[in-house]
Formats: sequence, structure tokens, C-alpha cells
Amino acid sequence: MQKTLPNKPPSKFKAWKALQDHQKKIAPRSIQEHFKKDDNRLDYSWLEWEDFIVDVSKNRLDRKGFNLLLELANEAKLKDAIEAQFSGAKINVTEDRAVLHTALRNLDHSPLIIEGVDIIPEIKATQEKIYSFCNKVISGEWKGYSGKEITHVVNIGIGGSDLGPSMVVEALEHYKNHLDVRFISNVEGDHHEEILKGLNPEQTLFVIVSKTFNTQETLSNANSIRSWFLKQAPETAIVNHFIAVSTNIKKTAAFGISPKNTFPMKDWVGGRFSLWSSVGLSICLAVGPKHFQNLLNGAGKMDLHFQKTPFEKNIPVILALISIWYNNFWGAESEALIPYTQYLRNLPAYLQQAIMESNGKSVGRDGKPLNYQTGSIIWGSSGTNGQHAFFQLIHQGTKLIPADFIGFKKSLKGNSDHQNKLLSNFIAQTEALMKGKSEDQVKAEFKASGLDKKQQEKLTPFKVFEGNKPTNTILINKLTPSSLGSLIAMYEHKIFVQGLIWNIYSYDQWGVELGKQLASKILDEIEGKNSYNHDPSTSKLLSKI
Ligand code: F6P
Repeated sequence: MQKTLPNKPPSKFKAWKALQDHQKKIAPRSIQEHFKKDDNRLDYSWLEWEDFIVDVSKNRLDRKGFNLLLELANEAKLKDAIEAQFSGAKINVTEDRAVLHTALRNLDHSPLIIEGVDIIPEIKATQEKIYSFCNKVISGEWKGYSGKEITHVVNIGIGGSDLGPSMVVEALEHYKNHLDVRFISNVEGDHHEEILKGLNPEQTLFVIVSKTFNTQETLSNANSIRSWFLKQAPETAIVNHFIAVSTNIKKTAAFGISPKNTFPMKDWVGGRFSLWSSVGLSICLAVGPKHFQNLLNGAGKMDLHFQKTPFEKNIPVILALISIWYNNFWGAESEALIPYTQYLRNLPAYLQQAIMESNGKSVGRDGKPLNYQTGSIIWGSSGTNGQHAFFQLIHQGTKLIPADFIGFKKSLKGNSDHQNKLLSNFIAQTEALMKGKSEDQVKAEFKASGLDKKQQEKLTPFKVFEGNKPTNTILINKLTPSSLGSLIAMYEHKIFVQGLIWNIYSYDQWGVELGKQLASKILDEIEGKNSYNHDPSTSKLLSKI
């Protein structure tokens, strides 16, 4: 097993050069022409696994292009890299850490030895502690300081300590119990006030989630909430109402949280990949241990698929390679993610952190600046809302925006009228994006409408749709905790594959540090404790505050 990831820029791979040449050759060919040229196109561009269908046929790629992308993955030694990650090699080199969020949803329970210790028993023990605690809160056995049951939960955290849990709690609304679970992330005092509105301290549980227990936003919110709480409750009540999730047990104790109410996490779980760990406590509170376990199991199943499936049928690998195809060979800057369910309206925001914090890098694993593009800009919203907002630009704008369409065959509440409309939009959009509307079609439509001839000529160019817009369709049977787990894990592995091929380190996030450092200096200035030299723009802005 290799202990670290290889170090070779993709431009040195034979397949990279071949892909550049191939792109030039097939660029004039439309997606529809690819379909016409190859009767068996779906043989290699249609993937089925468990209750997932992934149709990648509506892309500007032919069979040869797919094969070259697979060669690229092989040249990058993807198989060995997957093995390295899952077996706990320290592939997060700049932080000297292993990357083992996958161990948290490991289905086979076989030992995983890290630095001489099998980490699986400790993972299981922490999970048992989470499940037992959540069962007590949900059943009402856990009481607030005045003897009343907990009715509200507030998760205090930011970034990976907020986005994952909040997105999943929202996504699993259908599976939720009676607890009202809220999230406070922003350091903005107004946000804080809004979240606390109407809360009864006697019946509210605060879960402070911070891997480092060092994050300004989280600690300020936790401290202010603690003061708000102590205005109404005695100090001894903290034990019933404040829970922590962190790697930093010393700091949680200093905050006044007893070790028995502290849920540990390990440094080999990255913040943006941490919802599977104790960071998912709020999820477990919201939906209960059984659904939380199903979420983990769904992710675990996708892990096995990623590890064991040949690359040509491997969903995360294929999605990663297609994304590289547009990013590096077509110059696409961004990717849209469009879930056709309101439950997943925050999936794009969650994946923004996962993808952009991971692969937004400009230095290679050799420490040298890169001369090719890395992480894409991720954006999107739920369909059909997006259709009435940004779809105009995807259909008729000047930019190339590959898009993932994520949909579910079955609705959760069984309203078939609405579900049929939703799915008709889901399917129609990808067809429309690929086919567009030609000038001849527009003219034929005008003819039938009987519109004045001059007007017809004037309007025709505005009504033409170029088409040839690429999409991936991810069609899943039903939104369940398990399918959601698989979906999230699918994107996690996509990130890994791309980072490997781009020869970058996906699991650090040094880029967020500079702003944090400067903010603490500027805070001193705003509070009149110190002053520093700034550029004229910053100085003038500060003078206005
Ligand atoms: O924004 C940077 C970051 O380190 C994220 O990676 C992380 O998810 C977030 O801050 C929160 O960090 P913590 O859990 O340590 O409070």
C-alpha cells in the first residue's frame, strides 16, 4: 500500500495530452450528434447502482473521450490512492493527518489500525454514547434543570460544524421527531437574537460544535448564549443544557462542560466531512438513532461502491472525470447543482464548502504553483425554483455551465399530481438543454402562430436556443436517510478523485486563515485597543465604522 499520494502534475500524463487533442477534434460535434453516431451510447454512459441511476450520456463526450478520462484516472494511480485513504495513510500531508471520515460509516467492522491502535472500538463507543444520549433527550428522560423535558435544540457551530448537520436536518424533515432543532452559525448579533426568539431556557439544549473549540464565531455565540441562559437559570443548570462536540476536551472543560457531556471527535475527520461523527449529534437528535444509522449505512454502501467498482462503472469516479473534462479541457468555470426537491435546497451551499474548501488550491503537491485550473465554482438551488431564476443564463447565456440534476422518483407524502409535474420539469430541462431550439423550429412555430412576418423575423434570433448544454442526471428512488448518505458520500469521493488528479492536497484549508488573522487585528482597532497601518481603502472604511 502506498503511504502518501503520488506527486505528478496531470499535464505530465499521456492521457492529458490526448484529451487536449481529443477535445479539439470533437468540439464541433454536438451531444445530439454523439447520440446519432453511437447507437450503444448508453452502454458506457448510463450507470445503475442500488437505487441510483446516473445518466451521464448528455455530455460533450464520446466513447473515446470516456476511455481517455479513465486512462487519466489510471495514470494518476487512483486505485492505490483510494486504498491509501481508506486504510488511514496520512494523505493530509500539510496537517500531518489521516483522512478517515469513511471509518465512521465502515460497514464491515473489521479492525482499522492507526498508529498501532484499532480505531473501530472507539468509534463504536462514541456512537453508542451519542445514541444513548439522543434516546434520552427524545424520550424525555433527559430533563432540563427545572425538571421539564427538552423541546428545543440549538446547534452552535460554523462551516463544517454547521453546514452538514443543518443541511441534513432540513433534508430529513419528513423523518423528524418532535424536537425543534435550530442552527446558529453567524457571529452577527441579530442572527443570534432571531434564533433565541421564543426559546425557553428550561427546555432548550445547546450543542456547541467546534472541532478546534477555537473558532471566533462559535465561541462568541456560545459565550453570549451562556450569559443569556445564566440570566434565567442557575450556574448548576449548565450541565443539563450545554453539550459539546470537539477534539479539544481541555477547552470544552474550561467552558464548563463536563466530560460526560462532551462528545469527542478525532483529528482525522475534516470539518467539512464531519457530519458522520459526533458533529452529527444534532441530526441524531432530530431524526433519532435509527435514521442516523441509516444515513451512515447509506454512506458506507457508497464507500464500498467507490472502493470496489471498476472505474468505468464507478459513479463518483465518472462524475469526477466529467467535471475535470469541462474544467480543464473546455474552460468551464462553474458547475450548477440542482436538486429537484425542496428538502435538498441547501445541498448546493453544503457542497460549496465541501468542494471549494477542498479543491480551491493553486499549489501542487510538489509545493509549486499550478498552471492549470482546479476546483470549480459550485452554485445552484432547488428546481423548479431555479428554472424561474438562473436557468435563462444556462439556456441562452454565453457561459458553459455543466449541471447535475438530482431527482427522486417517489415523493415522500404521495402527492402524485405534484410529483408528476416536478418530474416532468426535471426530465424536460435536461432534454431542452441538450436539444435547444433551432432557427427552423422557431420559424415553424411562428408560422403556426400567424404572427406578422416582420415581427417573426425580428424575434427569431431571441427565440433560438443553441442547446448542447451538458448535464448529468442523478435519479434516485426516494429521499431516505440511506439514499441521502449515499448521495453525500458520492460527492465526497468525487472531490477526492479530482484532488488526486489535480495533484493538490484536498484536505487542508489554509486559505481561510488569513482573513481570520486580519479580523482579530481589526477587531482590536474597532474596539479602540490598538491601531495598525492599512491601505487607504481599508483605513477609510474603518474610519466609517
Ligand atoms: O472555515 C474553516 C474551518 O476550519 C472549516 O474547515 C471548519 O469546518 C470550520 O472552520 C469550523 O471549525 P471548528 O469546527 O473548529 O469550529
